[in-house]
Amino acid sequence: MCYAIPGKVEAIDDKFVTVNYFGERKKALNELADLAVGDYIYAQGGFVIEKISPLEAEDILATWRELFFELQDLDVRLSRVELEKQGMDQKLGHILDKVTAGKDLSREEYIYLLDLEDNSSKQLFYKTANFLRQRYHGNACCVHGIIEISNYCGSNCAYCGIAETVSGLQRYRMSRQEIIETAVEAVEKYGFKALVLQSGEDKGYTAGELAGIIKEIKVRAAVLLFISFGEMEKQELQELYNAGARGLLMRFETSNPQIYRQIHPGAELKDRLQVIRNAAELGYLIVTGGLIGLPGQTRDDILNDIYLAQELSSEMISFGPCIPHPQTPLAQLPLPPEDNILKVLALCRFIDPEKANIVVTTGLETISPNARRKGLLAGANSVMLNVTPLEYRKLYSIYPNRAHESETIAKQIAEIVSLLKSIGRAPTDLGRV
Ligand code: 5AD
Repeated sequence: MCYAIPGKVEAIDDKFVTVNYFGERKKALNELADLAVGDYIYAQGGFVIEKISPLEAEDILATWRELFFELQDLDVRLSRVELEKQGMDQKLGHILDKVTAGKDLSREEYIYLLDLEDNSSKQLFYKTANFLRQRYHGNACCVHGIIEISNYCGSNCAYCGIAETVSGLQRYRMSRQEIIETAVEAVEKYGFKALVLQSGEDKGYTAGELAGIIKEIKVRAAVLLFISFGEMEKQELQELYNAGARGLLMRFETSNPQIYRQIHPGAELKDRLQVIRNAAELGYLIVTGGLIGLPGQTRDDILNDIYLAQELSSEMISFGPCIPHPQTPLAQLPLPPEDNILKVLALCRFIDPEKANIVVTTGLETISPNARRKGLLAGANSVMLNVTPLEYRKLYSIYPNRAHESETIAKQIAEIVSLLKSIGRAPTDLGRV
């Protein structure tokens, strides 16, 4: 199984290489010592992660080539937007014309989109986001894996089912060996090129132990590693970067400091943002975003959330619904409608059509069975598969009935590949433009 297409190095300019993928050129940062023009490589998130032999590369490319162009045709067909002017809301028509002409929209226009209610207007909004996704990103779709290594947590986020005060939950902490084996298997057996290691804010691992685990995974497997262990000191982030981690997944949850305070007793938004900024400064790729449907959250807050995700120069943006967990203070929170999240995905695409990588979250999939398809057709270009060992997956119960909580990795792969093929997407990650 292969999630990335090999590319051919065309030029090397200090640390950056230019890589050719079926005629399309992308830049990637190289950390391998022995790379030369003409070599074949895999790149992820803008990093060269592995050199592969020309024989192997050409073999993979030969099987991909035909399918790749076939998929591309289908994607282009599906993403064409016929702006059906007749009977269309004129203001919406004007906004969509403007955004497809590459112009920035005003705050008021973004709010107008968030407020759309009529179904055909919403569909046109999503379709236009899909059109922009295809224009700037082609049909590549990132498929990353996540391993939830521990559900111990020392924090008490009001929405979270693994918060420290949630009682009756069986807690687990994967051992060093289990984590390494799971990650190496995900890369070697299943072909993942990018993995996230996630846990609650667990003091049960020291930064030194985590660094040791990361180092060992990097020795044994060519993979882009993201960490998601909650808030950390800059020094610890540095230690994990030195060990080989290159991405940080950390949502700011909400851009509104008051809401933040209400749902994170004793914590401040600015401290969380500082962690994200520290990581960015150290060279980490940032994946961030927030929760939709928080108590007291307005559409202005949501628009601010999207702006904040963009301002933090996210490599990838992650927004999902806040799903009430019965054993948390937010047990009675109403579930936000699916459209509220699809609108956010589409708006993220509108705000940064060229650079944004937008993920369809498990949260969205949990509240809507067809969410992946809908999200990918509303501007998103990325998904994450859960590669946590099945015995632990159910215990990582941040909210109830998480999508894919009892599906094997093989089943998840078969499903995503079939979905992507049906909408003309290739499960590749061609890295940053
Ligand atoms: N609903 C949706 N997302 C949640 N998370 C935690 N609890 C919930 C919930 N009840 C998300 C938070 C956190 C991520 C790891 O999981 O956004 O950052």
